Amino acid sequence: MIRELGEAKKNLQRNGFLDVDIDVNLDLFAEIERLKKEKNAIVLAHYYQEPDIQDVADYIGDSLGLSQQAAKTDADIIVFAGVHFMAETAKILSPQKKVLLPDLKAGCSLADSAPPELFKKFREKYPDHIVISYINCSAGIKALSDIICTSSNAQKIIESVPADQPIIFAPDRNLGSYLAKKTGRDMVLWNGVCMVHEIFSLEKITRLKVRHPKAKVIAHPECEAAVLEIADFIGSTTGLLKFTQRDDAREYIVVTETGILHQMEKANPQKTFIPAPPNNACACNDCPHMKLNTLEKLYLCMEYEEPEITMEEELRLAAKKPIDRMLEISAQYGL
Ligand code: 13P
Ligand code: SF4
Repeated sequence: MIRELGEAKKNLQRNGFLDVDIDVNLDLFAEIERLKKEKNAIVLAHYYQEPDIQDVADYIGDSLGLSQQAAKTDADIIVFAGVHFMAETAKILSPQKKVLLPDLKAGCSLADSAPPELFKKFREKYPDHIVISYINCSAGIKALSDIICTSSNAQKIIESVPADQPIIFAPDRNLGSYLAKKTGRDMVLWNGVCMVHEIFSLEKITRLKVRHPKAKVIAHPECEAAVLEIADFIGSTTGLLKFTQRDDAREYIVVTETGILHQMEKANPQKTFIPAPPNNACACNDCPHMKLNTLEKLYLCMEYEEPEITMEEELRLAAKKPIDRMLEISAQYGL
């Protein structure tokens, strides 16, 4: 099936450094289905994954949905088609399961913007504050947090905290200032950003609006405030997808990573979705971390059960507490 793999090449693949040659006649979709059954494995995919990966996934969702699935699955292996912090969250919630990430280098600029040792010092400056952290952060940051949130439950989570309790919000300053406005809470913000969502050009979106006057602008709250100000709807990836299904416009300018367009087009074949342009000529509205995963790497990681996410038990337990708190609050609100 796979052309002869030397041990050195296997090691490279395990570390996510290389696409190993795979027989081009192999039906990867059928092979992945076979491996799922043989190994009792589930494939969880984020909306920013390439369409082929979304099509082979058992569950596609936003960060909240994915962590809820990871917590409740009875599969023996969770194959996480997403980025490192997402697979890490799955391992924190389901330690007895093997959690695989097709490419171990699939990181996140936002998570990287908050190194735990610096954040620990920052937190010490505000001893009376509690820490609410966006799930896009490392296990080290989660362990220093009181509650985790995602873009779909952040408002409810902040509102569940007593009004006189001061809050630090980390690591996304754009999401943090959007939530501060929405909730009226004066939060201390960590200065992190997502490299994909900060690159959208207000000028180019405005020009697109002139050419498509009936198109609605829908945006993810990780975008900068100036972009959010012109949006007709703001929400998590699942929130944006659901909005396109209930709303009656025919055209949308989508201000988030382009992967979401696949599900929007599938759910609304009669509508047009225009990806919002970045402020230069690159394909920067594709997340370079998310897009490191490919169907080939997904297949190889299931075949070899590598690369695997592992974690110290002490760190896992400390990081689990604020995630459990998030899942409890979300359940209370039926999210
Ligand atoms: P959600 O899918 O939770 O909206 O998060 C978007 C994102 O940037 C994930 O990396
Ligand atoms: Fe991180 Fe942004 Fe990529 Fe999401 S889109 S994984 S927040 S860099």
